[in-house]
Amino acid sequence: MAEPLFRSPPGTRDLMPPVTDRMRAMVEVFADEATKAGFGQVTPPMFEDIGVFVRLGEATDVVNKELYSFEDKGGRTIALRPEQTASLCRVFAEQRPVPPWKAWYYGANFRYEAAQKGRYRQFDQVGAEVIGSSDPDLDTELIVLAARFYERIGLRNVQLMVNSLGDPADRAAYTDALRAYFTANQADLTEQSRLTLAKNPLRVMDSKREPDQQIIEGAPVLGEFLSVEAGAAFDRVQAGLNALNVPFVVEPRLVRGLDYYNRTTFEFAGLSLDAAQNAVGGGGRYDGLVANLGGPDEPGIGFALGVDRTLLACDAEGVFGAPDTNPQVWVVAATPGVEGLALVDQLRRAGLRSDRVESTRSMKAQMKKANKSGAEVAIIVGEDELARGEIAIKPLRGQGDQKNVPSSELVEAVQEYLQ
Ligand code: HAM
Repeated sequence: MAEPLFRSPPGTRDLMPPVTDRMRAMVEVFADEATKAGFGQVTPPMFEDIGVFVRLGEATDVVNKELYSFEDKGGRTIALRPEQTASLCRVFAEQRPVPPWKAWYYGANFRYEAAQKGRYRQFDQVGAEVIGSSDPDLDTELIVLAARFYERIGLRNVQLMVNSLGDPADRAAYTDALRAYFTANQADLTEQSRLTLAKNPLRVMDSKREPDQQIIEGAPVLGEFLSVEAGAAFDRVQAGLNALNVPFVVEPRLVRGLDYYNRTTFEFAGLSLDAAQNAVGGGGRYDGLVANLGGPDEPGIGFALGVDRTLLACDAEGVFGAPDTNPQVWVVAATPGVEGLALVDQLRRAGLRSDRVESTRSMKAQMKKANKSGAEVAIIVGEDELARGEIAIKPLRGQGDQKNVPSSELVEAVQEYLQ
């Protein structure tokens, strides 16, 4: 076979059945959970003025290394969205919906990452954000929304980790303490972490590199620097999770990969996946972000779940298989007219998955297709049946004989077979 001239770019995949069927089903479950919880679907554009994303924090890899950006023909600097929280804050600032505003979303995001299994340059997320309330019970509600979604798709081996990053003043005090600690231990840090230290000591905590890990182990934790208010809010979130029987662990070293967070942050780890790529979702509070994008000073909280990665976790646990998309009925029409076409149309309009191949193929060839198709029944029309106004129904699996029915009773007769 000739080599194809082009392949999909690194870090991208051609999604095809059954993966696409499973993804769609997963998004439908999320949409249902979010709708039940009072969220409306919002779809921002896939690209924005680069400034929207630069506000995510210039010391984050997502912004300084991974943005796909370009100048458009109108001279604007545009970036493909690396996530959707910033876009939703921009939407809030521009459209000014009534707070608290509850929005859910679904779609592709783009990050120029080192591609590997579970880490792609184009990946899908579902997510939910609430802008306009600082009630810590809402933090709990959002975490629970995500947890119930995982539960509903059948994932069991998922661990919820929560942390509080405190308020800006707490973070400033903590950042100073971290800077002092890492500076004292610089010699043992990796080159990359020394560079990160100069920009944002907090980010060093994110390093998964082995030499850094040992230093990170001994670093001060943020919990010791929380203000009274931030501490009380975090206690309330934990009490809420306990009351709703949602298991969690407090992970004082949980620092998310984006810079906009304060107070509650959380992550879900798929424990059946490789540790390096096991975050199936995460989120937290981002109280200053809307104001930072020029909007009103409204607090925000939300999360996003990686659809691709959640599917990998489902594979690892053997749950959430593909929905049945096989045809239920196969139409075999050996007639010169368009009877075959008309029949699949009639069956599809009645809600049945039905398919056929060209009527110019022999009856035998068409029956072979029918047997391979996975369909429950074949319906057969040849010149004789046509002349008598009848159609033959032949079960393709299990018991039952072929029988002839009047064309007018076709749909009912097929439905009877499928029960
Ligand atoms: P994030 O942690 O960057 O947060 O991404 C959320 C989830 O998206 C991850 O846990 C992971 O499952 C998936 N994900 C991220 N990057 C990739 C990738 N390169 N390939 C495959 N999956 C990936 C956010 O995006 C925040 N916007 C979450 C949020 C919402 N915070 C507040 N509101």
